[in-house]
Order: sequence, then structure tokens, then C-alpha cells
Amino acid sequence: MCGIVGYIGDKQAAPILIDGLEKLKYRGYDSAGVCTNDGEKFIVEKEKGKIEVLQQMTGKGKKIAGTVGIGHTRWATHGKPSKENAHPHISQSESFAVVHNGIIENYMELKSELIRKGVKFVSATDTEVVAQLLEYHYNGDVLDTITKVMPMLKGSYALGIMYREMPDEIIAVRKGSPLIIGIGEDENYLASDVPAILDKTKNIYRLDNGEIAVIKRDGIVVYDLSGNVVEKTVETITWSVDAAKKDGYEHFMLKEIMEQPKAVHDTIIERIKDGRVVLDEIRLTPEQIRNFDKINIVACGSAYHVGVVAKYIFEKILRKPVEVDVASEFKYRDPIVDEKTLTIVISQSGETADTKEAMKEAQRKGSYAIAIVNVVGSAIAVEADDVIYTLAGPEIAVATTKAYSAQLAVIYLMAIYFGDILGKICKEDYKNYVSELLALPEKITDILDRIEDIKNTASKLFARKDVFFIGRNIDHALSLEGSLKLKEISYIHSEAYAAGELKHGTISLIEKGTLVIALATYEDLHEKICSNIEEVQSRGAYVLGIGCENRQHLSHSADSTIFIPKTCDMMLPSLAVVPMQILAYYIARFKGCEIDTPRNLAKSVTVE
Ligand code: F6R
Repeated sequence: MCGIVGYIGDKQAAPILIDGLEKLKYRGYDSAGVCTNDGEKFIVEKEKGKIEVLQQMTGKGKKIAGTVGIGHTRWATHGKPSKENAHPHISQSESFAVVHNGIIENYMELKSELIRKGVKFVSATDTEVVAQLLEYHYNGDVLDTITKVMPMLKGSYALGIMYREMPDEIIAVRKGSPLIIGIGEDENYLASDVPAILDKTKNIYRLDNGEIAVIKRDGIVVYDLSGNVVEKTVETITWSVDAAKKDGYEHFMLKEIMEQPKAVHDTIIERIKDGRVVLDEIRLTPEQIRNFDKINIVACGSAYHVGVVAKYIFEKILRKPVEVDVASEFKYRDPIVDEKTLTIVISQSGETADTKEAMKEAQRKGSYAIAIVNVVGSAIAVEADDVIYTLAGPEIAVATTKAYSAQLAVIYLMAIYFGDILGKICKEDYKNYVSELLALPEKITDILDRIEDIKNTASKLFARKDVFFIGRNIDHALSLEGSLKLKEISYIHSEAYAAGELKHGTISLIEKGTLVIALATYEDLHEKICSNIEEVQSRGAYVLGIGCENRQHLSHSADSTIFIPKTCDMMLPSLAVVPMQILAYYIARFKGCEIDTPRNLAKSVTVE
């Protein structure tokens, strides 16, 4: 969703801001804008639509004077996408300029109050309320005013603020939504996300909740809410600019699909020492692990699908009950969770509002929360009781691929680690799991080497209108992800169904030519899924089967097949997901869809 950039230095600010916004557009947006201070006044340029529109209007920023400024990409929440609603927002007398990520939940109340006092609003956004509040309550000291206004704002937010009379500083405020400050030489940056400034500096400060930073050309001072100076540690970003570039691939999604062996390798390798799984980073003790009587998993979208896979794995190996919830539903069903429940939170961005809220709800009820997160220092990572980072590197395409695979890898690590502590895994199984886990990157590479065959299959299927993904047990969990991948980027209607459930209603939708993708990797239920394949075929469906290479007779049941290498049951999803991602990618490509930024979607969903 929305993105923030800021610059202060000796160079012209607007070209740097627009360049930064370009790098944030993967997050999803529908309008963009910048505001600079030329020493006397604010210069604001913003417009609905693509950043290219802003680039054209401003000559890529060259037409805008000023060496200090803030910029924003907006994904509409309050008020439609329009020029008026685009950020930056300026207060009535043009004294404050504000860009904002997140949500001010009580903005209507605050707005009505300000309107009663005579303040005139020009937009429908919650953000404008912040600019107007700052101006209304201005007491001669910008920092003090901000500190007084912050407690009035309910919700989560990251703010970039400029005060017209102080053209030599930008103020950054974090409560909930992430913000980083890039440290340069005689120049400094502000951003909501590392890629925006990675080609300018690798040294950053991450603001923590409740911190306020005053960013000047030659220095940065960070304060807490009581006005005390906070000593921050400089973090050096280790990934390169290339990690956030397409590297010759036509789309980020394809690049990220191809990066999966590395993402899985990097995620597991430091956590397996001398054949043992070591999760040094968690504080959760073996005693606590033994005391939990239930596991509770919350996440959204693909991360939720990882949770569904995890339920099958944990219940089978740990023999503890597992509940998986879509995070947006969890909080509002008064879930039965207490200190005997372990909560596992899964999120690539670490920013997803629903997931964060679900985690907090579980924590409020006394549950210990472990988060599996990709983005270092993100809100969920910071607020969880423990965090296990996936080391997938930056994921840019909206449709997740490598982060999904890295999350699965962490689930396997946890299953082995917890299973061992609970005494549920014998020596032989332990050894086998670890060796299969270490072999996963190579087996994924094996499938990627056959990408042209899968592309060829996609070329025959891209015109289908309806697709069903079916599977049983862990294959069913995986079918959810296959179906989401396809529909979100190709806009083809698709549904995932437990194969045995189809005949209880949905099979009436199968007609001549309906594409059914049958996942048949789970050996114990092979005969049963083959019967389900026959059921749909006899009603006219065309079946593409995905199975393990030791089960070649799947070719006799399905109309066409894709085979994956064999591995232990729990790790099958890591292999079977790869052909489904490639299929979705090429089907979308043959259809001419905008793959990396599908319509209506944002990379991180920071509103509930
Ligand atoms: C689908 C996809 C989304 C995300 C979901 C959660 O390809 O990427 O469904 O999985 O929005 O996002 P995170 O993992 O950032 O919490």
C-alpha cells in the first residue's frame, strides 16, 4: 500500500523523491505526489494515476525547486483516488505539509471538531486531519506541537512532516507503520521501505513505535514521546540494489520464482547445525513448548495458506490441536485462546494490519506469539514475543512466491524442532527430515529446469474461463495457494476444493472443457484422488495432474501431467507449489496481464 520518501540535502529534492516513489510502486498505489520547500513556500505536485503522470508533469521532478521535500504513493482508503485526495496534504494556511501511511481511526471525530472551529478541508482523507490539527494546535515549537497532537490520533501511522518556516528539517513520526531514515553525507533520507533509498545509502536507522526524528542535512536526532533523546544504532542493509532489480527477467515474479532455491537455502542453512535444527533466535523454552496444549495460526492470503499446510504438518507430527484463522476473522470471533495456546503469526511484509491486530488480540488473551516474518524490523516482527525471519530477500511482485516457500521452510524447521522437544520424532525420522530439508533447494531447482515444459502447458490452457484446484490432505492445503496464484494475476475465475467435497455440490459446475488441476502428491490418498479425477473427467473436465515422479501411472488418469521429485510428505508442498506458480505466471503472461502489479491489489495491506 502507500509509500513514503523524504530527502534533505544540497541536491534538487524532487527528482530524488520521484525516483524513490518509482521504487515503491510495487507496494500498490493509485496516485502519487511530492512537496518541496523552496525556502519560502511549499511547492506541491500530485496527481491520480501512475507515477509516469507525475514524471511528465514535473519533468521527472526537474521543474520543482527546493532541496528538501517529501513524497508519497497513495492506495486509496478514505476517499476515492483523485488529485485532491493524493498526498502530500497541506494545512489551510500552508504551514504544514504531511505524508502518511496507515490509518487515523478517529479522523471523522477530529475533522468535525476542526470544521466546527472554522477549519476548511479540501480532501476526504484522514491524513489531511493531521496537517490541519498541527496547524490548529501550533504553539511556536514544532516538535512540542507534534508531541501534543500525537496522542489525539488513534490508529497506526507513519508520518513525514514539513513546517514551512523550517526549510532545514523534516520530521518523521512512527506509531505502528514502519519508517526508516537513510543516513547520507551532508544529506539524509526518509522512507517507508528500504528499496526506496537503497541506491543512495545502505546505512539506516529504523524508527521504533512512538519515536519522532528530526532530520536535518547534517544530522538526525531521535526523541521518544517524553522528549528524551534516543540513541539509535545504525543498521547496514546487507542486500544489494540488484536484489530489488529485475536482473534481466521480464517480471519480478519470474525472478522471484527462480530465486526460490536460494530463499529456502538461506532460510534453513544457518538453522541446521551438525544435523540438528537450532532455533537460537527464539526465547521460547522447551518447557513452554511442552506446556502448550494448542497451536493457533493467524495470517492472511498466501501466508494463511502456509498456515493451512502447517496445520496438517503440526497435527500429524506434534499431535497437538491446531487452529488456523484468516486474521481478519480471528479478532472478531472472540477466539478461545489463553496462556496455554501458542500463536504463530505468518507475514511476509510484517505490516499486514489484520495479522498484526489478530496477533495483538492473541497476546491480550495471554498467548505467546511467534512471528514468521520476512521484513526485518517490521511492526509484526517488533511486536511479537519471538520472531523467526525468513531470509527470502526483498519480494517485489505483489503475488508472493519466494516468501511463501521460505515460510514453508520455517514451518518444517519448527515441526522438527518442536517434534523433537515433545519426543514425537524418532531418531531415524529426524535424520530423514533434516536431510530432505537440506535437499529441497536442489529439488526445487530440478523443477525450475523444466520451466519450458510448464510454459508449454500454460500455452494450451490460458484461454480457460473456470479452473478448479482439487487435492486431499496436504494437497488440499496447497490447492488453496495454486488457485489464489492463478486468479490474482491472470483474472481467471478459480476455486480450490477438497477433492472429496466436490461431489457435495460444486461438481454441478463441471462441464465440458472445465480445467481441473488435481494435486496428487500425497501418497496415502493416491487412489482416492484418482477416483476424484475420474469423477470430474466423466463430466467433461480436462484434468492436469501434478504428482510425484514415482507415481507415473497418474498419466493414465489425468489428461496431462507435471511430475515433481519425491520428498517426505510434509515437504511436498514446497515442490508442488513451484509448477503452479510457473503455470499461473505464464497463463497471465499469455493473457497479457500486468503480472507484477495486478489490478486492485497492494503488496502490503496496512488497513483492516
Ligand atoms: C498473494 C499474496 C497475499 C499476501 C497477504 C498477506 O500472492 O501475496 O495474499 O500473502 O496479503 O501478506 P503478508 O504476508 O505481507 O502479511
